[in-house]
Amino acid sequence: KSGEFQQMREAHELAANFYSHLLLNTVEGEKALQYLEQRGFSREHIEKYGIGWSLDDREVLSQLLQRKKYDMKEMERAGLCIMKNDGTGYFDRFRGRIMFPLHDDNGNVVGFSGRTLSTSKDEAKYLNSPETPIFEKSRLLYNFHNARLNVRKTGKVILFEGFMDTIAAERAGIMNSVAVMGTSLSDTHITKLKRIANQLIICCDGDNAGWEAAKRFANLTAQKGLDAQIALLPSKLDPDEYISTYGGESFVEKVIGNPHTYMSFILAFYKRSKNLTHENDVLQYIHEVLEELAQKVSPIERDLMLRQLSTETGVSAQALQEQFIKKV
Ligand code: GTP
Ligand code: MN
Ligand code: MN
Ligand code: MN
Ligand code: MN
Repeated sequence: KSGEFQQMREAHELAANFYSHLLLNTVEGEKALQYLEQRGFSREHIEKYGIGWSLDDREVLSQLLQRKKYDMKEMERAGLCIMKNDGTGYFDRFRGRIMFPLHDDNGNVVGFSGRTLSTSKDEAKYLNSPETPIFEKSRLLYNFHNARLNVRKTGKVILFEGFMDTIAAERAGIMNSVAVMGTSLSDTHITKLKRIANQLIICCDGDNAGWEAAKRFANLTAQKGLDAQIALLPSKLDPDEYISTYGGESFVEKVIGNPHTYMSFILAFYKRSKNLTHENDVLQYIHEVLEELAQKVSPIERDLMLRQLSTETGVSAQALQEQFIKKV
């Protein structure tokens, strides 16, 4: 049985090398290479992360795998190929996409995420490998195998929403970041992080979905006893865009170097869409913050929270205290 998984791993390694060759050494890969260069990818990072290009051809990988005598049913199960409707053969799952290999904890390629070059909304921006015997989304963290040693050394890990942000962060000298594949953070992910880090910084996109994800991630990790800090991005940028716009140094100092505590994040979270010169917004804000934090914070944090709320809203600390007591 481990033999058949071994075949899947070997096929992924072969596919990754094939895609990498197409990107780096062929005319067909030029457009993708230009795209990556425009986005700030250096040749070194393209090679380190094993990035490639899948031809806009229906079956070039399937034919290669067949020539190498791989069992094509297994290749379909591994998520690399798909059987044609008429059953006469196989075509490639990934076509015309920039290929990002996904590695397991030991550095074996176990799946791919393919990014389209097209800006059309009709096409999914990313296409991932399906769940297979060697790739579980709820287990895999992008870059874990590279980051692990640096995380152990520093005790710190940074968690991003998008794996593009992990690659961009390396331009800022950040070597201890990982990303989830998709938007859910599982118990297994958290356990893995907890095992090697005692400090977690969550850094999600600055758009609305990113704020929501950061809140969800922070709640989940807190439940599992790993307290996170949350780094916030200005004006809807994501970490990659921030680094391209303001540079890596600014990212390290102003974003990652200045993370919020959970409490201060929650205050910012509920404040961001409000105008605190409007009485309705003030009431709503106080309600939401007390609702969210009443049960969660320590006595010292409670004191800080009530004082900060009072400063921000002009409502007396005493009135807030009374409201707070009603909540708990
Ligand atoms: P770029 O636009 O290339 O910079 O990507 P991004 O990293 O900014 O992606 P985005 O913030 O839109 O999404 C974050 C993560 O969600 C990605 O890394 C993917 O894992 C996932 N994701 C985004 N879009 C899709 C999609 O169309 N399909 C799938 N399966 N996942 C997606
Ligand atoms: Mn998106
Ligand atoms: Mn996003
Ligand atoms: Mn993003
Ligand atoms: Mn992005």
